[in-house]
Amino acid sequence: MTRGLFIVIEGLDRTGKSTQCAQLLNHFSVSGTNAALIKFPDRTTSIGQMINSYLQSKTDINDNAIHLLFSANRWEMSQNITDTLNQGTTIIADRYAYSGVAYSVAKGLDYTYCKYPDRGLPMPDKVFFLDLPPQLAQQREDYGDERYESLDMQTRVREAFMKLLIDNQYIHKIDVTGQSIDSVHDTLKQQLEPLLTQQQQPIKHTLFM
Ligand code: TMP
Ligand code: MG
Repeated sequence: MTRGLFIVIEGLDRTGKSTQCAQLLNHFSVSGTNAALIKFPDRTTSIGQMINSYLQSKTDINDNAIHLLFSANRWEMSQNITDTLNQGTTIIADRYAYSGVAYSVAKGLDYTYCKYPDRGLPMPDKVFFLDLPPQLAQQREDYGDERYESLDMQTRVREAFMKLLIDNQYIHKIDVTGQSIDSVHDTLKQQLEPLLTQQQQPIKHTLFM
């Protein structure tokens, strides 16, 4: 049995990540591929609940501490990710460590420091960055509900993502400006096509190494 693919979708808030993840999941299930959706932060765990209350501005947490909690929230899921992939199930992740770095850097934390806690996490097979100007994301429904959803912050998050894209050339940027849900979905499918037919190497734990 071949292992599943580990696909990550990244982007600013309100850029359509969750919609695209759901579309991909549907695409895989229709085509008979075992697939599962995961989302970071995973707000269901006890660490996730702390993160959730922070994002809803119900609690304040030191910037370094919350950075480590976001990373811990990935580590607590990491064995599960590896096992699921090895059992042949493809994983679609709505955000991953790239968000972890970009949002903390946007708050002023050091870039190299920010990558460190996530070093050695399971390495994705494909990472997409859905790119939408922060001004356009701002016009979308429900914008501004949570901490970080301000134009100023999102502009800095995008700048941090641009640095990540330069340093991690495997991240594939997709400009979603003016594109329909279906056309973005088609682009993602096209990009994934070559991976579906090629034999996968064992999962690497080389993220940010
Ligand atoms: P969500 O809107 O996708 O649920 O993500 C919640 C917020 O948390 C979003 O503004 C991005 C931010 N975030 C971080 O700051 N660090 C992280 O590691 C992750 C995964 C998300
Ligand atoms: Mg959000």
